[in-house]
Amino acid sequence: MSTSEQANQLYVPSDATVKAAHVSGMEAYRKLCEEAEADYEGYWARLAKEFVTWKQPFTKVLNDSNAPFFKWFEDGLLNVSYNCLDRNVEQGRGDKVAIIFESDDGQVTRVTYRELLEKTCRMANGLRELGVKKGDRVVIYMPMSVEGVVAMQACARIGATHSVVFGGFSAQSLRDRIQDAGAVLVITADEQMRGGKQLPLKAIVDEALGMGGCDTVRNVLVYRRTGGNIAWNARDVWLHEVLAKQATTCEPEWVDAEHPLFLLYTSGSTGKPKGVQHSSGGYLLQAALSTKWTFDLKPEDVFWCTADIGWVTGHTYIAYGPLANGATQIVFEGVPTWPDAGRFWKMIQQHKVTIFYTAPTAIRSLIKAAEANPATHPRNYDLSSLRILGSVGEPINPAAWEWYYRNVGGSRCPIVDTWWQTETGAHMITPLPGATPLVPGSCTLPFPGIMAAVVDETGADVPNGQGGVLVIKKPWPSMIRTIWGDPERFKKSYYPADFQGRYYLAGDGAVRDANTGYFTITGRIDDVLNVSGHRMGTMEIESALVSCTELVAEAAVVGRPDETTGEAICAFVVLKRPRPTGEEAKKIADELRAWVAKEIGPIAKPKDIRFGDNLPKTRSGKIMRRLLRSIARGEQITQDTSTLENPAILEQLAQSN
Ligand code: WTA
Repeated sequence: MSTSEQANQLYVPSDATVKAAHVSGMEAYRKLCEEAEADYEGYWARLAKEFVTWKQPFTKVLNDSNAPFFKWFEDGLLNVSYNCLDRNVEQGRGDKVAIIFESDDGQVTRVTYRELLEKTCRMANGLRELGVKKGDRVVIYMPMSVEGVVAMQACARIGATHSVVFGGFSAQSLRDRIQDAGAVLVITADEQMRGGKQLPLKAIVDEALGMGGCDTVRNVLVYRRTGGNIAWNARDVWLHEVLAKQATTCEPEWVDAEHPLFLLYTSGSTGKPKGVQHSSGGYLLQAALSTKWTFDLKPEDVFWCTADIGWVTGHTYIAYGPLANGATQIVFEGVPTWPDAGRFWKMIQQHKVTIFYTAPTAIRSLIKAAEANPATHPRNYDLSSLRILGSVGEPINPAAWEWYYRNVGGSRCPIVDTWWQTETGAHMITPLPGATPLVPGSCTLPFPGIMAAVVDETGADVPNGQGGVLVIKKPWPSMIRTIWGDPERFKKSYYPADFQGRYYLAGDGAVRDANTGYFTITGRIDDVLNVSGHRMGTMEIESALVSCTELVAEAAVVGRPDETTGEAICAFVVLKRPRPTGEEAKKIADELRAWVAKEIGPIAKPKDIRFGDNLPKTRSGKIMRRLLRSIARGEQITQDTSTLENPAILEQLAQSN
């Protein structure tokens, strides 16, 4: 959308919404921003005292003496699980429902704060019994479940650093993460239930550990979810057996604010996934604060973030943020399209959800489904409980925004389009529902205290209306601390020399509207793809393809726009045999998809696979990706191809679909 169009389409919050909001009106928003401008450390210190309960208060706020390895509140002591659980019980919310769990087949379980605390204490005691200590890494490979959240909280309680791996990742990906983290324990389930199907988890853990190189793992703790058949090894322990003996209280391990709460692996533009390391104090502060302000969370709300705990959204807006605020939230095991595509709407109706936070991909696929089967359209459900809607993970196109606004929100609910990343820990650029006028497709303005800007390659601000790269000019409490085991890569990726190491480089392009100053994210500027809101490095997929050494000689992966998934993965492959066509090409493409699913996970399967005798290369042998991008999009090649060694290959690849 053009910038001039933007300014005409403001959705202004209603007076009632503004009046009741935590951040009430643009004046209040501006005042917070001014407070942060005037005294940056003072602003964050004030909020850190308000939102976090400290065992020992901090005296230092920001330590930038070893930039870009920033420290926040470093001499403060706290426990994240205490803040999320005990604090609520102590403040009289023991009987309040913390989690409404709905299983794949629709069974509902309610867990109060007191029960969640007891479960967490028992699991924490169990972990201690298994010898897990402060600073140890624990990999969690679990279905969406109360137990998954409890496992994270239990690690936090004893000061163990968790690393949750999404249940859709393959044995190979899981092994790489276990190995990189040096985990002492893996917590998993026998199987998970999704869309009426039983899917293995424990068997994948067995396979991962069987690949070798994971000698640090002493035990595998297994939650019985389905009772399905699984193999049993000497290192395996049933969760229910360990829990049976445990006390329901457990003294928290008080850790300093910088203690690593978790690692979460994510894709970068080069090499293997990186373990993004997060802190305890600064992370908790912004998890709690952003949950409250961005969603304007009130005690009576029923909050539902549909993300999986395997992604950062499930960390900040399921496992930590809502609990730190004493909220009631939904945890959902299943998928949005089963038993039919009305599942989300049915659940919102049944549980009287007031705040609903999901991804554009989900919305787009539910729009399509509602067109195909009108019975699944949201208008068939009573969604009047909804108050606030949210979007996360990728740009939301204005058409999907409008549909979401009208059909789900009844033209009544503000949509918060939240821009942030695994590395930022919490929302960075987002509307606040009781303040910010909305523009479809724009994440609007920085969260108060976040110094976001659009700059050119030298780090100079670009004028509004002109595109550039998105940076954050000052460190913030919930920021990534380092890449686990690779501080150099941390520096190079996020604080590159281009900006003299001053600014955090987000890896996204952005433009600010000429009139409003609103931010619109224009997409990644590196070789990272965003497919259905999942981040994937093109290099990772290329290395998975070429590791199929029997078939593949060479591969190049690029993205192209896709109506439903945002971006789609396109692979250009040169085989070790003559270029296949017709049925044979289809068959080999399917084999390669299955191979990538095995190497990384089904989410990384290329949608398009094209075979060529070669790839377009410069005379020095460099693959010309910009040409491949054009071919993948079905565009005419208008770029200069004079440096191309083998121009005829373009024609062949263009026709090979
Ligand atoms: C993209 C997910 C546009 C962006 C929380 C970012 C977005 C990457 C938005 C991070 C949004 C996330 N609008 N793009 N509201 N939210 N992105 O680490 O490219 O899985 O860099 O964190 O997703 O993905 P990640």
